[in-house]
Amino acid sequence: MDQIIVTGNGPLSGQIPIAGAKNACLTLMPATLLSEEPLTLTNAPRLSDISTMSDLLQSLGAEVAALQDGQVLAMSSHTISNHNAHYDIVRKMRASILVLGPMLARDGYAEVSLPGGCAIGARPVDLHLRAFEAMGADLDLRDGYVHAKAPGGLKGAVVDFPFVSVGATENTLMAATLAKGTTEIRNAAREPEIVDLAECLRKMGAQIEGEGTGTITVQGVDRLGGATHPVVTDRIELGTYMLAPAICGGEVELLGGRKALVGAFCDKLDEAGIDVIETTAGLRVRRRADHVSAVDVTTEPFPGFPTDLQAQMMALLCTADGVSVLEEKIFENRFMHAPELIRMGARIDVQGGTATVTGVPKLRGAPVMATDLRASVSLILAGLAAEGDTVVSRVYHLDRGYERVVAKLRGVGAKIERVKDQ
Ligand code: UD1
Repeated sequence: MDQIIVTGNGPLSGQIPIAGAKNACLTLMPATLLSEEPLTLTNAPRLSDISTMSDLLQSLGAEVAALQDGQVLAMSSHTISNHNAHYDIVRKMRASILVLGPMLARDGYAEVSLPGGCAIGARPVDLHLRAFEAMGADLDLRDGYVHAKAPGGLKGAVVDFPFVSVGATENTLMAATLAKGTTEIRNAAREPEIVDLAECLRKMGAQIEGEGTGTITVQGVDRLGGATHPVVTDRIELGTYMLAPAICGGEVELLGGRKALVGAFCDKLDEAGIDVIETTAGLRVRRRADHVSAVDVTTEPFPGFPTDLQAQMMALLCTADGVSVLEEKIFENRFMHAPELIRMGARIDVQGGTATVTGVPKLRGAPVMATDLRASVSLILAGLAAEGDTVVSRVYHLDRGYERVVAKLRGVGAKIERVKDQ
């Protein structure tokens, strides 16, 4: 297993290109199962999670070709030859559950193993299942699998989620495109990835209104066609690299970034003393003074502060002036990076879903362990400004969601390398 070694190295300067969104691509790819005609995605990120989704789709009978060095995914699902999403693939990635809605909607049956993914809480899929039941599916949970049937096809329904779920909204939205009649998704997630999915489905012929708001209305159609669609910019990769100059000083431009993708995050950066300027190419970030100020952060569904930037924000606040309180409202058990940051000299007290961070003047490099995708990159960010070397192990977590992280950070002057585990 590889390790990443980061050495604190002062201010950064230059540009970092931001890739297409992992989380958008992972819901756009299963949309190929809705149509006999080809679906081509451009601006795809090159990540192990995308390879896992390719493997899963191929196991179901889809053709998936990664072209132009993986940035174009040409997919085609003329027929679905296997309706069983096997545990061996699904356990690697929770987003695998997103093949359930499309298969059920197109062919009236599907079997999907219950998913695994990042160890950040229980993360059930009950909301997905309740939505399909509301649309007339019979579900049976046996041997770790969901066995779903809707022999006469899914029917449009009112699906009223008790709380916001990104994945359940995506799965229901895809399924509703081929259901008979109208589906109204209430308390829908409003994330940019949902809007991107709706735009792609509409290109395929779906009738959808209201994406980006709390109510999405879908008028089912008999069949969907093919489309070519660019994956929206990754707002989490964007926010992560925006924190690099915030932590180290200097000035970095994030190519392809837009404030609309990270509004609540920009507000918190402003409060902490960091300027974010919109340019023609993206966003330029620099801090106003040598030190940043403590800020309180509560994670919320979009347009609130994203849970997927909480760990990285904590890395910034470890050396802020004053005391910051971070409240994690989306996932329980999402402070696994805190003990690792403490190993680097941070002062963090975690009580349930609340972390209190008391700023220290400087972190010190240490051997640390990545525990999940976003936690792993928070340790790299912390290492960029720490004294000495930070050695991050278990970096396979990072490969799931950040492409070419070493090259991108080196490109702005960071001292970082990837080595084979000794
Ligand atoms: C997606 C993102 C993930 C992000 C999360 C929240 C992808 C591939 N992943 O995950 O990076 O952190 O949104 O922004 O897009 N829940 C249930 N029952 C369900 C579904 C969810 O209880 O059926 C709970 C979850 O445990 C969690 C909360 O709802 O506490 C929100 O989860 P959800 O929005 O569904 O996250 P994901 O779609 O899994």
